[in-house]
Parts: sequence; structure tokens; C-alpha cells
Amino acid sequence: MPTKIEKDSLTGTETTGHVWDGIQELNTPLPRWWLYTFYACIAFAAVWVVIYPAFPFQGATGLSGWIAREAVVDTVREAEARREPMMARIRSATPQQIADDPELRNFAIAGGRIAFANNCAGCHGAGGQGAVGGFPSLADDDWIWGGSHDAIRETIAHGIRAGESDSERISMMPRFLADGVLTLPQVNDTAEFVLSLTGRATDAAAAERGATLFTENCAACHGEAGEGNRDVGAPRLSDRIWLYGGDKPSIVRSIAYSRSGVMPAWGPRLDAAVINMLAVYVHALGGGEN
Ligand code: HEC
Ligand code: HEC
Repeated sequence: MPTKIEKDSLTGTETTGHVWDGIQELNTPLPRWWLYTFYACIAFAAVWVVIYPAFPFQGATGLSGWIAREAVVDTVREAEARREPMMARIRSATPQQIADDPELRNFAIAGGRIAFANNCAGCHGAGGQGAVGGFPSLADDDWIWGGSHDAIRETIAHGIRAGESDSERISMMPRFLADGVLTLPQVNDTAEFVLSLTGRATDAAAAERGATLFTENCAACHGEAGEGNRDVGAPRLSDRIWLYGGDKPSIVRSIAYSRSGVMPAWGPRLDAAVINMLAVYVHALGGGEN
């Protein structure tokens, strides 16, 4: 209930004239500096809304036309332009030439590491260590298709059995049981022979019979002694490195139904400079050959 404005006897402050249940309200206005700062903020916000994009609608830009997303694109483009002279040199060099030039090599390894993490680690593992199920390790010196700079570049650019490049790497092992080339006992004998290559045969007579079958059916691709053949991407069977598992059931399965690992072709997806950087990076993982 409004009453008349008077001075509060205790504090000496004026009252507003409002009284509730006998309690009076003192008039203590905001400090001037606070109030003016507040007004200034409102004015600033009003100007900001006009100049900069302030509404979350498509195309709702302010008068200045500045858009955060475009600013990012510009910054990225500037960074790419700064990188371009180096990228051009890498694009036009061979992986071997890049590896021989310390400056190019450092740049390529750094870029290759990022491109590998983005595109390859999902299948080949973060450090290129590979995974059971057909994903070869790229960090050892056991190569299916070849470990020279050029061979690695070729594999990355054109892919393997992906049907994405005319020069892709391709070879198909027959499905010996499924296609009726061998009977199940013959598959078993051949598997025993394959096991014997790493000293693990459990049935000497079967391995003996398997040796003949191997010469007739397998040696053309895998070599007489199972040493493998990079021309047709036939892995070595005489080491203890297996794409699909080296226990007997896995080997029987490989022979009976065959395997055909697929790797995408990266030539159509990545900059030629990035392919070169990846080749240098993979070569440097540990198993690169001359
Ligand atoms: C979808 C899974 C997948 C992705 C992604 C992938 N690879 Fe592969 N890669 C494979 C498979 C499977 C093989 C083995 C093919 C075979 O059995 O011959 C392979 C083989 C290779 C080989 C040949 C190895 C050898 O021993 O000769 C190289 C080199 C290679 N990959 C590099 C790369 C690089 C570099 C990338 C990234 C740009 C990449 N791969 C991405 C699945 C993949
Ligand atoms: C036309 C060529 C060809 C012939 C013939 C062939 N292979 Fe293969 N073999 C391959 C290729 C290529 C691969 C690799 C498939 C892949 O990388 O996915 C392979 C893979 C294998 C594997 C799996 C190796 C691993 O590391 O897991 C075994 C085991 C094998 N072959 C055994 C045989 C046996 C035994 C025979 C004969 C009965 C035979 N192959 C005949 C081409 C051939």
C-alpha cells in the first residue's frame, strides 16, 4: 500500500513508499556505472545482430556477410595453399625418390601417418599390424604382393580384387572342394602336406599323398615348396604367418572354399601425393624392401 516517501530513521535512506505488513522498502537504486554498462550491452547486442549472423536460419547472415563456416573453409584453403608446393613435389616424385630426400621423406611420413589412420587403420590396425581374417600385417617383411616402394604404391593405388581399377591386383584360388576339383579326403591330405611345411603334420602317410596333390594343384601358384609367388599374390605357406589362420580347420577351409581378400583401390579416392606418402609410410613401417 503506497504511503508517503520519507527518510528511514535507521539507515538514513529514502523509502519507496511501499509498505507490506509494516515493513518498508528502502530505495537503493543500481549503481550508475552498472546501469550504463547494462544499457551499453543492449546497444552492442542490437548492433551485433544487424552486422553478424545471429539467427539459426539457413542463409540468415548479418550485413557484413561473414559466416563462421566459410571462414573455416578459407583457413583450410590457405593451409592447403601453403602445403601445395611440397605436395606438388611429392606428387611428381616416385616413392623411392621421396624416401631418398630427407625433407620430402619427413613430410611424407607425417602426412602418411595421418592418411593411414584415416583410411587404412580400420582394416590393417593402427600400427599396420594387421588382423586375423585376411588383413595382412604391413609392418613385417612378409609380403603377398611385394614390399618395394613401387609394389606398395601399386597395391595402394589399384587395390586388390575390388573391381575398382583396370590394373588391380587379382588372382583367384580355385574352390577345390566346392568346385569338385578335389574330394574331401584329398583336401584333408593336402592340408596335412601344408601343415608338414611348418613341421606340424599329424599323419605322415596323408602328408605324403598330399605332396603329390600339392604339386599337381597348388605349386603353380604357391611354389613347389610352398614358398609363395608375388606375381599372383599367393602367400607363402612355409612360414608361420597366416592370413586366415594356420590351424588345420582354417587350412582345410582355405583349400575347400578358397579365400579372396579384397582391398579398395585408393587411386580414385585420394590425391596422388597422398598415395605416394602412404607408400613411403607403409614401406617405413618396418618391412620395406629395395
Ligand atoms: C576394407 C579393408 C581394407 C582397407 C580399408 C585397406 N586395406 Fe589394404 N588390404 C586389405 C586386404 C584384405 C589385403 C590383402 C588382400 C589379399 O589377400 O591379397 C590388403 C593388402 C594390402 C597391401 C599388400 C600387402 C602385401 O603383403 O602385399 C598393402 C600394401 C595395403 N593393403 C595397404 C593399404 C593402405 C595403405 C590402405 C589405406 C589407404 C589400406 N591398405 C586400406 C584390406 C584393406
Ligand atoms: C590360382 C592360384 C592358386 C592356386 C592354384 C592355389 N592357391 Fe592357395 N591361394 C592363392 C591366393 C591368391 C591366396 C590368397 C587369397 C587371399 O589373399 O585372400 C591363397 C591362399 C591360400 C591359403 C591361405 C593362406 C593363409 O595365409 O591363410 C592356403 C592354406 C592355400 N592357399 C592353400 C592352397 C592349396 C593347398 C592349394 C592346392 C590345393 C592352393 N592353395 C592352390 C592362390 C592359389
